[in-house]
Amino acid sequence: MVDDTLRTPAAIREAERWTAHNYHPLPVVISSAEGAWVTDVDGRRYLDCLAGYSALNFGHRHPTLIAAAHAQLDRLTLTSRAFVHDQFADFCRELAQLCGKDLVLPMNTGAEAVETAIKVSRKWGYRVKGVPAGQATIVVADGNFHGRTTTIVSFSTDPDARDDFGPYTPGFRIVPYGDLAALAEAVDETTVAVLLEPIQGEQGVVVPPRGYLPGVRRLCTERNVLFVADEIQSGLGRTGETFACDHEAVKPDMYVLGKALGGGIVPVSAVAADADVLGVLRPGEHGSTFGGNPLACAVATEVVRLLATGEFQRRSAELGARLHGALRDLVGDGLVAVRGRGLWAGIDIDPALMTGRQACERLAERGVLAKDTHGSTIRLAPPLVVRADELDHAVEQLSAVLH
Ligand SMILES: Cc1ncc(COP(=O)(O)O)c(C=O)c1O
Repeated sequence: MVDDTLRTPAAIREAERWTAHNYHPLPVVISSAEGAWVTDVDGRRYLDCLAGYSALNFGHRHPTLIAAAHAQLDRLTLTSRAFVHDQFADFCRELAQLCGKDLVLPMNTGAEAVETAIKVSRKWGYRVKGVPAGQATIVVADGNFHGRTTTIVSFSTDPDARDDFGPYTPGFRIVPYGDLAALAEAVDETTVAVLLEPIQGEQGVVVPPRGYLPGVRRLCTERNVLFVADEIQSGLGRTGETFACDHEAVKPDMYVLGKALGGGIVPVSAVAADADVLGVLRPGEHGSTFGGNPLACAVATEVVRLLATGEFQRRSAELGARLHGALRDLVGDGLVAVRGRGLWAGIDIDPALMTGRQACERLAERGVLAKDTHGSTIRLAPPLVVRADELDHAVEQLSAVLH
């Protein structure tokens, strides 16, 4: 029976009436949140085990980040890059130092940062490597997710993301993820970059075989190709290190960052690279009205400072070990497989039991929010401020859903 005293059904109907249906959200209407918890319009509380696809690594409304946003709102919000503002240098310096790179270029969304990386790689290819005009190629991986622009979906292998959005941008070669020999074969003298997620999030938290990322690094160095790591979802503490590449001591030529960089408050993205790479851009060749705006910089500087303490990476590593241990106990008992690192897990539900969507709906009824991806796979990515007992609670609810 539908309880017509609840506000949720009407709110969902109204949202569906007025929006394009490019998402299929779970039937939960959130009105407030704090830390790892959200509350819906009917007062029900849920443990957030998605964390805005890792944009909320520091939890909802982290006090330090909210204070920085409030203070900045009261002083200055936007200048455009036609002028310099007083939050800009600190942000760029501190992010560059966190990345161990010379320079950063701030943008807003993840897709814009990926576009920036593609443009910089091509420019570097023509101006530094000497690739003939218009010939640059970039090698990418099967199963990738780098965003939604027309250029980026041109090299997606997901029909939902790609079909009927052509004509497509040329200049990309797709190889199987994790296959070093295939990558070596695809790279030639026109190749300017290898663009990879060090862990494929949307694909279901797919971790490449050990040795793959160092192998990519070696190959790129030997063949004079830029290694561009899209750490938009895997970076900034999610996997138990600052960057997922750190697990194998790999330094890419360019980091592509987003999501958690904005502290769950504002969209902030960036690329970070050394001067021999990012230095190829000259005034007027690339930009964004909102990229590096004062509000974004004020919040993101505090994000970088939170990460510089190492506390969130430690929490992610320790709590991640607990989460993965508990999830592994369910393999063969409702789960088929568990993958991931730190507080990031891709779990495959036994398809004989239910779909990932059904599992997420049942989890939501039990007060835990997670999101399915590709059939029977669910992604768990709670905020890094989650407590051990809260994680145990989430796994108990998952076990109850499966049994
Ligand atoms: C690895 C990766 N790259 C790029 C993007 C695109 O980011 P945005 O949605 O902010 O454009 C995402 C978003 O899920 C992502 O996971």
